[in-house]
Amino acid sequence: MNSDLTNSPVWRALSNKAQNVSKLQNLFAHNESRAKNLTFALNDEFFIDFSKQQIDSATLDQLIHLAQQQDVEKWRDAMFAGDAINFTENRAVLHVALRGQSDDDYSVQGKPVMSDVLAIRERIIDFATRVREGHWRGATGQRIKTVINIGIGGSALGPELVVRSLRAFQDGPDVRFLANIDPADLSHTLAQLDPATTLFIIASKTFTTQETMTNAKAARRWLIAALGKEAVGQHFVAASTNQAEVEAFGIKSQNMFPYWDWVGGRFSVWASVGLSVILAVGPENFLAFLDGARDMDVHFRTASPAQNLPVLMALFGIWNRNFLNRSSLAILPYSEDLQRLPLFLQQLEMESNGKSINREGQEITYPTCPVVFGQPGTNGQHAFHQQLHQGPEVVPCDIIIALTAHPQDEERAPGQHRQLVANALAQAAALMSGRQHAQPERSFPGNRPSTMIVMEALTPRNLGRLVALYEHKVAVQGWIWEVNSFDQFGVELGKELANALLNNTATDFDSSTLALFSQLDHLSRAA
Ligand code: F6P
Repeated sequence: MNSDLTNSPVWRALSNKAQNVSKLQNLFAHNESRAKNLTFALNDEFFIDFSKQQIDSATLDQLIHLAQQQDVEKWRDAMFAGDAINFTENRAVLHVALRGQSDDDYSVQGKPVMSDVLAIRERIIDFATRVREGHWRGATGQRIKTVINIGIGGSALGPELVVRSLRAFQDGPDVRFLANIDPADLSHTLAQLDPATTLFIIASKTFTTQETMTNAKAARRWLIAALGKEAVGQHFVAASTNQAEVEAFGIKSQNMFPYWDWVGGRFSVWASVGLSVILAVGPENFLAFLDGARDMDVHFRTASPAQNLPVLMALFGIWNRNFLNRSSLAILPYSEDLQRLPLFLQQLEMESNGKSINREGQEITYPTCPVVFGQPGTNGQHAFHQQLHQGPEVVPCDIIIALTAHPQDEERAPGQHRQLVANALAQAAALMSGRQHAQPERSFPGNRPSTMIVMEALTPRNLGRLVALYEHKVAVQGWIWEVNSFDQFGVELGKELANALLNNTATDFDSSTLALFSQLDHLSRAA
């Protein structure tokens, strides 16, 4: 059993501090410059106010000491150097190269990668431009009006987040996402489409994922029934690392946009899996999104731990999770455009750090990733915020705001964005300050922490900064917790058992599962 981390002096000092933490209101009362001291900026357009985290400066110093003890800077540098830090799969973790520029010199285990990255970036931009400008057409000669990204997990959540978040910038075809193996999703999506004007992107790193391949084959049958077999090449392209399977599906290699095994699925929106984004919002906005992530990469790589946004965010998360025993994290974007952010972060955080085996292969003794959930404000206020304010468990919140609305939204609804942001600030204030009332049910305990992430506006560049901020935060937490944030073996067993049920290849299922499955069999045979 691993106990080095929890027995280290700094961990013990933090545990002691957690026994006696001042209330948030007192921390503010004793320090007039608290908000200023605990607000850290990437630049004028992007900053984070951590002052409503329940922490004093001595504790923050100890947390920084913890990051140093856990070699966060060494791991970070190894990641940027292309070392195989995904040690269970012996792979580099170099998604940062996907937003690199020609003067960046990223390499994977000694082999430079930037020329390949830039070549593929050029190809996806060229392809998307041809579609957007009507040079690439469907088999009947009509322009592409609708793009369906068939993919799941990292091959869907990233591009869906970005397309949705940048809908104010969309000037290309309608882009939709088909992920679930539920036939209701497929049939509902196909029913609304005209095959002659539809382009399918099959996004799958492995090109073997059950959901994606089942939906892709159904879409191909549907297209062939309408336009014939020869039409497939004009209506299907792929983002994948598996050329053999892509070609076996009927997609020519020139219509396959590759990426590399050093890009994890949940980090793949920056490359070929971002094709749907370029189709929707155009190359310039996509490149601005990449530049934003690169801004955060440079900051992460160069800022001292005490000023480093992803490091600080990771440390406040560790403080809440491991020392104050907060088991969940609410993601509250005050932005309808950012509606998909909680879902995207569920995968990023929980698939990366929902683990309990450390680098030595031992079971760890401390909690790791909190349960991540959320939805945009103000809608969430009328759903689950009751529990955030008065439930017995404290739920730390990340509140994300843009100070200004998109010009067209401000023009159509003057002043409304101000109301939105005022609500976000009011929630954070209410969570922290609470209110005493003679009737206990009308009292608010307060002392509930939140972090306020502030963007000047929700632009492509700020979105890139935001996504990269969370990517790096998750990596730092994994390094501190000593888990591998870059594999996902926990999703395998369910996949195998579903196949075993379908193929009738396993006999050792429990009686409950077998009884339920026989009912399904019975009903589907009767249907
Ligand atoms: O859910 C497990 C997972 O492997 C994710 O990590 C990945 O993003 C998703 O499945 C899809 O995988 P692929 O891109 O290979 O279809």
